[in-house]
Amino acid sequence: MKTVNLCREQVYSGNLLLVNARYPLRQAIAPEQIRPLERETAEHSRVFLERKTALVLETLFTTIGSGSLLVPVSGFRTRKEQEDIYASSLKELGKDFTESYVASPGHSEHETGLAIDLALNREPIDFLRPYLPRDGICGRFRSKAASYGFVERYQAGKEARTGIAPEPWHFRYVGLPHASIMDAHGFCLEEYLDYLREFPYEGRHLKVHVENKSFELFYKKAEDELTEIHLPGYLPFQVSGDNREGFIFTLWR
Ligand code: DAL
Ligand code: ZN
Repeated sequence: MKTVNLCREQVYSGNLLLVNARYPLRQAIAPEQIRPLERETAEHSRVFLERKTALVLETLFTTIGSGSLLVPVSGFRTRKEQEDIYASSLKELGKDFTESYVASPGHSEHETGLAIDLALNREPIDFLRPYLPRDGICGRFRSKAASYGFVERYQAGKEARTGIAPEPWHFRYVGLPHASIMDAHGFCLEEYLDYLREFPYEGRHLKVHVENKSFELFYKKAEDELTEIHLPGYLPFQVSGDNREGFIFTLWR
């Protein structure tokens, strides 16, 4: 057995953070945790992402051979950048548009470094609503995204839960096996995190087989100060906060 102790602040970090109108980002990502994506096209400006997200996305681009066909339009945004985007959208495009397509500052997934907006490389590229169709290279990207840990975050039909209009260009890194489970069930992140609560540490855990690997998942509500968890000593594991009130544990079985 090994004992894992988590402090309350860890609820606010990890690849499963839920950031939406209800749950603001509580802890800004450390500057050393972000880096620029390697670029194929010099004419487009640099886009930054959380380090692991950047590496996995570059690997996915290489796998599908997207080269300069796909353009990373917007990745990590500072609070100030989100404020500027929100303000200029309000001024130029109005309240209804802005509330549908731009998260309030402090409530944007882009501030986590885990979100990326992509466009087909075809001018003009719309910064707020990039064009990412479902066929061709974009279809290849979509078909592989979940197996690399990315989900289309704002899908049609989920507006009541996400609070955002469909955004077929916005992908969010959640990692494995989460993206594959979400894809298989058609869950948005809000629904997935509710579902995981059905598998508490103290009860029956979720067991899944994804990409030829077996995983065990459970949820643990955070204690006021330290949360103590006992795990089998030999299993690799990952823990993420949900940015609400608990932790999701992922064990590689
Ligand atoms: N477009 C997404 C919702 C954002 O502004 O974070
Ligand atoms: Zn986006």
